[in-house]
This record gives sequence, C-alpha cells and structure tokens, in this order.
Amino acid sequence: MIIAIDGPAGAGKSTVSRALAAALQLDHLDTGAMYRAVTFGVLARGIDPAAHDEVAEAAEDMTIDVGASTVIVDGVDATSAIRGRDVTDSVSAVAANPMVRDLLVRRQRDWVAQRGGGVVEGRDITTVVLPDANLKLFVTASPRVRAERRVAETGGDVDQVEASIIERDRRDSTRSASPMTVAGDAVVLDTSDLGIDEVVERVLDMVGDGR
Ligand code: DC
Repeated sequence: MIIAIDGPAGAGKSTVSRALAAALQLDHLDTGAMYRAVTFGVLARGIDPAAHDEVAEAAEDMTIDVGASTVIVDGVDATSAIRGRDVTDSVSAVAANPMVRDLLVRRQRDWVAQRGGGVVEGRDITTVVLPDANLKLFVTASPRVRAERRVAETGGDVDQVEASIIERDRRDSTRSASPMTVAGDAVVLDTSDLGIDEVVERVLDMVGDGR
C-alpha cells in the first residue's frame, strides 16, 4: 500500500502521516527532511545554496540517511540542525534546484520500491513522485491556524508567523520546478477545524478493508 501526502508547512501533514504509518504498520518517509538534509550538507561545505551546479554536484556525493527519528548527513547527526534557522532560511533555494529534485525523486521512488509501499509526505508526492499511489491526500489548513499552531509550539508573533507562512507557500507553489499543486484526484483534508485524531480516523475509513 502506497499513501502519498502533500500539503503546506504547518498543516499537520507530518503528524497525520506518522499516525497513519503507525496505524497501518507502514514505514514513513519525510521528503522535506531530505531537502533539509541536502541544505545542511551544502551549508556545511560552505557552498552558496543558490549556486545550482555546485549544489547539485555536492548533493550527488553526499551520504544522506533519513531514518524514522534521526537524520544523518555525511556521518554527522543533523537531526536538530535541519530544523534550525540556517537550514530553514536556505531550503527553498535548494528545493527549487531541478537537478537536486531529480536526484531526490529517484531516491524517494527507490525507497518505496525497496519496501513495496509506505507513507510518503512532501509537496510533489501526489503529483510527481508517486502519482499512482493507492491513496493521495492533500492536507491543508488556513495560514492563520497554521501560524497559531506554530506559535503555540515555539512562541513568536502570530501576525509575523502568518506573513512568513504565506510567503513560503507562495514560493513553494510558484517555483518553476515541481510547484506545490493539488493533484486532481487527491482527497483534500482541511485540518483548520478538525483534530488530528479525526483526520486520521477519516483516512483510515477511506483505506477501509485495505488495512
Ligand atoms: O516540509 P518541510 O518544511 O520540512 O520542507 C522543507 C522544504 O522543502 C520546503 O521549502 C518545501 C520543500 N519540499 C519540496 O520542495 N518538496 C518536497 N517533496 C518536500 C519538501
């Protein structure tokens, strides 16, 4: 069983993906962590994240291991650093690099092929990486709700966080390489007014007897 999940940052996509993987006893792959891992490696090597050729070359020979709870880049534990400010500020430039995308899309498909299935989350999973998945979900929530959730976790000003979320969505959905779009046959789940448990229950109902 292959479940593909896309959606913007802060919509609850990761929480839903992990809960579904646990309920269905499937492995889970966070592809955003892969783009973050490449960004970490690029910064560690002192390369400009916007230098497409250099970044792509570095990505080719980087060893990236995105596990269930750790991310290792060239033997260095990057689990917390990939969520830090430096990587977060530079990851959009790396994710806009078509050569990096080709490389990571291949690795993501290999990951699924090796396991015969799994729950894969990202921005282009339903549209580009796994368009033939058994179930395709687009998990979203209003920018305001996403900002409120972020502030509840890490603090900050809701208006400012909301503005930066709107800006990141704009960049992710207007870039030329694999912009984030909703696949025609994806199920859209708006988590603005739904708890994660309710969302997971709904999806498990959709999966039905395939469980
Ligand atoms: O989900 P996240 O915030 O960890 O994603 C990090 C960045 O990578 C974000 O800018 C979107 C991008 N991304 C992407 O372009 N394609 C994916 N499949 C996953 C993430």
